[in-house]
Amino acid sequence: MTELITINDLKVHYPIRSGFFNRVNDYVYAVDGVDFVIEKGKTYGLVGESGSGKSTTGKAIVGLEKVTDGQIIYQGTDVTKRSNRKKIEYNKDVQMIFQDSMSSLNPKKRVLDIIAEPIRNFERLSDQEEKKKVKSLLDIVGMPEDALYKYPHEFSGGQRQRLGVARAVATNPKLIVADEPVSALDLSVQAQVLNFMKRIQQEFGLSYLFISHDLGVVKHMCDNIAIMYKGRFVEIGTREDIYNDPRHIYTKRLLSAIPRIDVENRELHKENRRRVEQEYINSQKDYYDSTGRVYDLRTLSTTHKVALKDGGAS
Ligand SMILES: Nc1ncnc2c1ncn2[C@@H]1O[C@H](COP(=O)(O)OP(=O)(O)OP(=O)(O)O)[C@@H](O)[C@H]1O
Ligand SMILES: [Mg+2]
Repeated sequence: MTELITINDLKVHYPIRSGFFNRVNDYVYAVDGVDFVIEKGKTYGLVGESGSGKSTTGKAIVGLEKVTDGQIIYQGTDVTKRSNRKKIEYNKDVQMIFQDSMSSLNPKKRVLDIIAEPIRNFERLSDQEEKKKVKSLLDIVGMPEDALYKYPHEFSGGQRQRLGVARAVATNPKLIVADEPVSALDLSVQAQVLNFMKRIQQEFGLSYLFISHDLGVVKHMCDNIAIMYKGRFVEIGTREDIYNDPRHIYTKRLLSAIPRIDVENRELHKENRRRVEQEYINSQKDYYDSTGRVYDLRTLSTTHKVALKDGGAS
């Protein structure tokens, strides 16, 4: 197995302060004990509803969020510590793309400077070399050369996401965390952006952690998928495990909520949705404990794990 990153029991808890003395009186358990392995060249999907902890997980992995507990091991080094990240230039190898490219690309900077910025942190290039490198990156994401001297607001949403990808691949990373990279785009543009992200993955041998609330989008991108609910994984498996053999009611509900376009099977889908909702109502206890927390993951196969009560439905 070609492991790139191993995540052990990762927790990110945000303190909630209140009162006159602004004391910490509680925590948001944004990420509450997740484990997974990212292999080289593969794509992982992280799916769940709003507030389930997806972005927090992604940000913790790239070092943008402080880890409360657990470890992130990158090629043998514990990168939960900032000093270790620096030592091995972790921030060069792991990059992030955000949903909202309008606010993640500095509006006051030209494209040349935006894309060159991460390169400048790690390499000393002459102006000529730098320009050449940025031009080649623009070419890779299908943008014309004259974009160099323009500003982010002069581009469409889809074009800006391409610029975000160009910036993310500028340092030749090993992993890109893509947080809802196409959610703000029209369907047709979504497909374009996803396709060139796939192409770039092959060219660079990248791994992706692809964050989305939409199991439909993830299906075409991801080799492995983790379903997240309230800071925990409810199910994790290969694409086939998740789409052909979902075991957790939460996964089943997400799947049955994907809009269908095939008219012939409309009745079938309706019936399936009804069945899933019935199961959801009848079998709460198999899937959630008395506090509404999901159980620990149980192993079903070498690839497939699901959070079920011992002896419960499967
Ligand atoms: N800086 C913060 N301080 C306190 N709580 C936070 C902070 N950032 C996120 N949270 C909380 O942590 C939980 C997880 O948030 P997160 O942004 O990771 O969710 P998400 O799955 O990415 O949701 P979305 O799909 O809406 O982007 C939420 O309850 C959120 O309110
Ligand atoms: Mg988010």
